[in-house]
Amino acid sequence: MSSIRSVVRGTGSYLPARVVTNNDLEKIVATSDEWIRQRTGITARHMAAEGEYTSDLGTAAARAALANAGLDASDIDLVLLATATPDQTFPASAVTIQDNLGIRGGFAFDMQAVCSGFVYAVSNADALLKAGLAKRALVIGAETFSRILDWEDRTTCVLFGDGAGAVVLEAVEGGDQGVLSCDLRADGRFRDKLFVDGGPSTTQTAGHLRMEGREVFRQAVGLIHDVIDGTLAKAGITADDLDWFVPHQANRRIIDATARKYGWPEEKIVVTVETHGNTSAASVPLALDTAARDGRIKRGDLVLIEALGGGFTWGAALIRW
Ligand code: UT7
Repeated sequence: MSSIRSVVRGTGSYLPARVVTNNDLEKIVATSDEWIRQRTGITARHMAAEGEYTSDLGTAAARAALANAGLDASDIDLVLLATATPDQTFPASAVTIQDNLGIRGGFAFDMQAVCSGFVYAVSNADALLKAGLAKRALVIGAETFSRILDWEDRTTCVLFGDGAGAVVLEAVEGGDQGVLSCDLRADGRFRDKLFVDGGPSTTQTAGHLRMEGREVFRQAVGLIHDVIDGTLAKAGITADDLDWFVPHQANRRIIDATARKYGWPEEKIVVTVETHGNTSAASVPLALDTAARDGRIKRGDLVLIEALGGGFTWGAALIRW
């Protein structure tokens, strides 16, 4: 087995300037600030400007992560972008980010696992680094979900926001830091519970997001527990050992239910859903960057990330910071 560990060297994030509050949404659909806050914990979300694309958000987050790591773009030989809202059907938006950053070596591709995209991307980047295929990876989650929302459907349009987050992972021989374990799952029987009703091969349109929210909520809680248990067991870590729980930011009630099950107090949970909304693959790296920059997550801390999204896909990863 490889003795290489994928160590987090830096984090970064980017949120578009425009903030859309629940009160703003009251003017568009039959909803209320009270309903959105009580059911989800969301009060506001950011929205990309006209002409501002997923690759722009991802590039800004990647630049911030490189600066935070004290590295140059030329140090990177893998750009892995988790997104369900690429600029175009192809090429991968990862290559646009690679070019924006001036990276001329290595390889770049997109990963499509919707809201679990970043957890999938961290796990896959970890495997690629361990296999020796790359030395330093920019792992990015970037989304412009505002572009695939049906702005007449109050059951979905109030939930999502735009944004991007990134981490730099570096292959390091030995040591105790880095990605300790991952657990990924998918079950395509659930694919009609959360999907986009368009695509190049079917409608030749981008389509709009559709979700059976109550059913996703019902399934999410149990499925998330499975991968958290799997990830902790693989690393030989107990729930009590954890320093930070950094979950996918879809709904405050799902986060609280998970934290309650494992006995994690509020002080150990990173929550950004209130001001970011659900930013799909960007939610976990945005939360990681928030807590790393404000000094909560420190070197040596044990950090658990998890997410569930369309497919269903879901997964978790444990990182020694
Ligand atoms: O990121 C990928 C994973 N996604 C998730 O994890 C999302 C999981 N699901 C959820 O977070 C929740 O199910 C929602 C936040 C989407 C909905 O919360 P809920 O407590 O499950 O509400 P509900 O869907 O059962 O709807 C309750 C009521 C309904 O009215 P009736 O049928 O009781 O009369 C809805 O029509 O709330 C109504 N409703 C709204 N009312 C005001 C639905 N959306 C809205 C709205 N404003 N925006």
